[in-house]
Amino acid sequence: MAILNIVKEGDPVLRGKCREVTEITPRIITLLDDMAETLHKADGCGLAAPQVGVRRRIALVEVEEGELIELINPEIIERSGQQEEIEGCLSSPGKWGITKRPMKVTVKAQNRKGEEFTVSGSGLKARAFCHEIDHLDGILFVDHAQMVDPDELEVE
Ligand code: NI
Repeated sequence: MAILNIVKEGDPVLRGKCREVTEITPRIITLLDDMAETLHKADGCGLAAPQVGVRRRIALVEVEEGELIELINPEIIERSGQQEEIEGCLSSPGKWGITKRPMKVTVKAQNRKGEEFTVSGSGLKARAFCHEIDHLDGILFVDHAQMVDPDELEVE
């Protein structure tokens, strides 16, 4: 496994629509493994393939430690409720903003064996699903967030 470079806002690879994965090749498996290692090292709760320079529809979400969800060709098939919470992104270090997201979403995706599955999440997990899937369409949270001055954030 390898730690990949996380590209930052302003890099064109973060923009534009990512291509669907039509075949799960050894290269895709390696990418998933490397992305997981990169995500853990960065201590984030999600990572999308374009953030490591790969324009494919692949994303990881890990909101609870040890519960890594690999999403290949993910699609939100249900959304309900609404939340407004602070969000950040590994590609926009030091930036924070409040986004409007559904409170609960259900995502349909494929796993690394190519099997289709659905997964639901609410709260932070729902935000992470939405945020990562947005990345696959070239959308960054800074595009629609109400930005917050980091100095005004309460220190936990
Ligand atoms: Ni992000």
